[in-house]
Amino acid sequence: MLSRSTTLKSLLVLVFSGFLVTLLARAHEMNHETHEYIPAQPGDSRSPCPALNTLANHGYLPRDGRSISPSQMSKALKEAYHLSSPLSTLLTYGGFFLLRAPPPPTSVPTPLTLTSALSFSTHLLKTLPSMGAVLRDLDLSDLALHNHIEHDASLVHDNTPLGKKFASTHINSTLLETFLGASATGTHISLNDIALARVYRESQTTTPPIDAFHAEVARGEVALVLGIFGAPSSDGAFGTASSEGVKIDWIKEWFGSERLPIGWAPTHLQTLRQTVASSSGLRAAMGDIAQAIAGAGSKEAKVEKPVLVVQDN
Ligand SMILES: *[C@@H]1O[C@H](CO)[C@@H](O)[C@H](O)[C@H]1NC(C)=O
Repeated sequence: MLSRSTTLKSLLVLVFSGFLVTLLARAHEMNHETHEYIPAQPGDSRSPCPALNTLANHGYLPRDGRSISPSQMSKALKEAYHLSSPLSTLLTYGGFFLLRAPPPPTSVPTPLTLTSALSFSTHLLKTLPSMGAVLRDLDLSDLALHNHIEHDASLVHDNTPLGKKFASTHINSTLLETFLGASATGTHISLNDIALARVYRESQTTTPPIDAFHAEVARGEVALVLGIFGAPSSDGAFGTASSEGVKIDWIKEWFGSERLPIGWAPTHLQTLRQTVASSSGLRAAMGDIAQAIAGAGSKEAKVEKPVLVVQDN
């Protein structure tokens, strides 16, 4: 027969073990819950940028998409996508600046003389808002302000109708399908596929055509997608023309549901240097494609969907 103290001790051990198990389970659950995918609920604020919407859907940014500070955004970009500090800082602070500063010039003054450059810079400086105003918290929907960061000729968004201040934050599934149709392999989207899709989309955007600044922004965006989600090429580099690119399924899931693709996890630190190199690679590939189309001498080739242009090559 057990003594009274043994019984008490067993009971205490039992209770304590139960407590520990519950604690561990709760901790696991909380960890899991923090970055669980929950799509936007009615009333949540979302942007035209799938990368940021995804961060909100996974709780790296406030799930309601509201009152986001620059440091919160920079931290979220590093945590979720493994961007390097220089890259996430540049994107965040550059983004806040572009959003709050006067719209970037649709063209730099031509001819670019010392006088025209000076008067242009003076004009720009005079219209700059104060630093505090630039860096105040934003709601994701603020980013839809047309022709600041947001731009026409997006691969998956409709162009903003003339005269409208804000762009749509919804993906156009027809455009997404057309974009995926640019895939040469049918399984991946490579740098060259993206170049083709961008040439096509820019050829479709004529009133007005995309300006040089926003064309650069657009290339930077897809360079990031290639770098973050793309397979490395044989030399271990990310976002280059020799990589097979990003799985189509991942693109669909990320653009379509604004969700981190299942099976994807950051594989490397995405740096500023890699992103700039991809973007330059993209520009070169787009130049080659445009030249090939011009060489073919057929205007019709240019306005066909990417998949048809691929067959022509
Ligand atoms: C989606 O894009 C296609 C192709 O540009 C266009 O014809 C269609 O009207 C768009 N759909 C919506 C709902 O905006």
